[in-house]
Amino acid sequence: MRRIGRDDAPQVTIEFEGEPLTARRGDSVAAALLAGNHRSFRTTPVSGAARGPFCMMGSCFDCLVEIDGAPNRQACMIEVREGMRVRRQRGAGDIGLGHSTGGGREDTP
Ligand code: FES
Repeated sequence: MRRIGRDDAPQVTIEFEGEPLTARRGDSVAAALLAGNHRSFRTTPVSGAARGPFCMMGSCFDCLVEIDGAPNRQACMIEVREGMRVRRQRGAGDIGLGHSTGGGREDTP
């Protein structure tokens, strides 16, 4: 993948899976990861298959990552900022309810 646009844009450093990654200010997280040759952003809850961004406009949810400890963040819709910590989302993200979310509604008794 080739980056287009200005090469002199200010840079920020984020972290992906514990490794530093240089991005351009204004990049989405997805654009920054793709520019860093990362293609797998998450794994599916059922089979564990790798997924990466498809639409880059907030529709497909294949770009879900964990950002600064918060799961289920759409990497294509969030702008990078200095020091941001990004991790792959493994399966359904845990939102702190004591169980993993499966995408369905939790019924109450
Ligand atoms: S790439 Fe489709 S929602 Fe982000």
